[in-house]
This record gives sequence, C-alpha cells and structure tokens, in this order.
Amino acid sequence: EKGTYPFYMLKEIDEQPTVMRKLTQEYRDEYGNVNIDSQLVNEVAASDRIYIIACGTSYNAGWAAKSLIESVTQIPVEVQLSSEFGYNMPLLSEKPFFIFLTQSGETADSRQVLVQTNQLGFPSLTITNVAGSTLSREAKYTLLLHAGPEIAVASTKAYTAQIAMLAILTQAVGELKNSEASLSFDAFHELSIIATGMEAMVDEKDYLSNLVKQYLSTTRNAFYIGRGNDYFVASEAALKLKEISYVQAEGFAAGELKHGTIALIEEGTPVLGIITEEKTGPHTRGNLKEVESRGANTIVLVTEDLARPGDQVILPKVHPLLTSLVAVIPTQLIAYYASMQRGYDVDKPRNLAKSVTVE
Ligand code: M6R
Repeated sequence: EKGTYPFYMLKEIDEQPTVMRKLTQEYRDEYGNVNIDSQLVNEVAASDRIYIIACGTSYNAGWAAKSLIESVTQIPVEVQLSSEFGYNMPLLSEKPFFIFLTQSGETADSRQVLVQTNQLGFPSLTITNVAGSTLSREAKYTLLLHAGPEIAVASTKAYTAQIAMLAILTQAVGELKNSEASLSFDAFHELSIIATGMEAMVDEKDYLSNLVKQYLSTTRNAFYIGRGNDYFVASEAALKLKEISYVQAEGFAAGELKHGTIALIEEGTPVLGIITEEKTGPHTRGNLKEVESRGANTIVLVTEDLARPGDQVILPKVHPLLTSLVAVIPTQLIAYYASMQRGYDVDKPRNLAKSVTVE
C-alpha cells in the first residue's frame, strides 16, 4: 500500500535505506560473516570471468558494481545487454559464471540468454526481487533482494538492492580467494554507512523539487555526465528521467561530449555533472565549464569532500566504489519531480510495462 504517498515511486525511493539494512540482516550470520550458499561462492570464485546479463536499470546496476567486483575478487567482469548477448554471443572465457540481474525475474530478453547458457552447461545465478520467478527457477542459484514489491514502473530500490547484493557476494568471493583488497572490504560496514547517507539524501525532497522547478520544468532535453562509476550513474539517471518525464535525456561519459554531442547544447540546456571520484572530478568540472560557455545550465552533484562553493547537490562520502548507491538517490528524486510537476502518472508512464515478457 502506498499510504500517504502520492505515488509508489516516492515510497520506493524512501525505502532504500531500509532495504540496505534488510539485506544485511538477511545475509550476515551471527558472527558477522557473509551467509551465502558456499557452493555458490565456490563456483563464482573458481570462474575466470563473470558475465552480468541484464536489461534497463538492472543493466545499469551491473555496470555500477563491476569495478568493485573486479577489485575485490580479481575476476574480470563483463556486463552485457540481454537482448544483444543472446543473438551475438561473444567469444566466452573457459570458465564463465553467469549472473542474471532482474528485479522481476520474468524479463524475456534475459530468459532467452539463460536458456542458452543452461544448454551450454554454464553455472548461473539469478539475483531477483521475486522468489519463484521464472529466472529464479531456471538458474542454478538464486539470491533474493528482499526489497519488498516494487510497483512503480520506474525501478529504484531494485537498482540499489542489486548493487548492494553484488557487494555482499563480492565480499564472500574475495574472502575465499584471499585477495588483498578483500582484507579491507567489509560490505556490511559500508552498507550501514550508505544507509545513513541515503537517509540524508531522501530528506532533500523539497530542495530537489525546487531545483527541478528552476532547471528542468520546461526543458525538452537534458544531459547527465560523469566519468568512471559516475558515468554509470549518469546513464541510470538519464534512463529514469526519460522514462517518466519524457524529457529526452542522455547519460554521457563526460570526456566524450566534446567528440560530438556538445553540438546539442543550447541556451538553457540542463547538464547535470556527477562527481564522486577525486581523480576524474577536475576533468568533469572542466567539461561542465565547456558546456556552460555554450549556454548550458549546469548542476553539480558532488561528494562532500570534493564540493566547491556554488555546487547544488552535496552527496555524503561513502566507499569510493559504492558511490553510485548514494549518488543515484537525488537523480531518482529529480526524475520523480520532473514527472510530477508536469502532471504525469509517475507510476505508470506511457508505453511501458513493469515486466517485459516479450523479446
Ligand atoms: O525486471 P527486470 O529487472 O529484468 O527489468 C529490466 C528492465 O525492464 C527495467 O529495469 C526497466 O528498464 C525499468 N523500467 C527501468 O526503470
């Protein structure tokens, strides 16, 4: 039930700190260790490459988790779109492990890949919010997101739950492989800091609603830019904005703008820069200056340690490879208010279904 909330999406955005804590409850044993089927952890650890297969927001969640998984487990990760991978399967490694990310567990594009990987005899894991769903039944292993039903078509809490779930799995695999990075990575500790940070972000509703009024109320297009993990959040932020507000939005690798897309910048085009990385932050700021000098209205979303006077949205500092979990929250709210202020049905955008069961 959405209770006093005008739309499920807002309720689901608000639930994210609770979902982070719930995942910790579900997957931490009484000694503080990761409690995941050891056979699953063994199989992932024994693989020479992890293939993450997903669509839409779940695909963006795969990208957001890639660098953490690689750094802690030392296993290379490929993130692939289900609808492409199934028909043009790339050359696979010798011991692949497949992870299907799917909120609904019913996405036909992802299922057709699972059918093929099963035929090829490769091990697979479905990470899903729906127990007993098709992809959960057909994969060798399942990990549940425990996020509670996600009703709004625009996915929010499933995105953050998927990244958090992958972080927990990453810790288990890293520990088994005894990797150096795993010694200093405590997923549960990081998720507790993140839950607190998320709470601070969901409290910024009025501020973000006003920001949307100021910069995004009448615009027909908008850009999110960032580098590294901030680029992956930019992609998710743009998907959210376009699917519910119908603003033509694109997420761009900040450095790539000047190789073509900058031609689209006009007087008043909103460009939102996401900055959570110390090494790339100054470069993204440089790109924001470039678009500003061509008339863009720039908005900076930045972690507190890298903030400068005048920056509009300040993000709490969390683990450097998990910043997407907090950076995405204001972008979800920005999409929400852009849709609501235009008077649309936020939960049921045109042309879209909650689960896409055709290929
Ligand atoms: O249920 P799934 O995670 O497999 O769904 C994948 C996409 O259809 C889904 O994320 C879609 O992109 C959402 N509308 C995004 O908000």
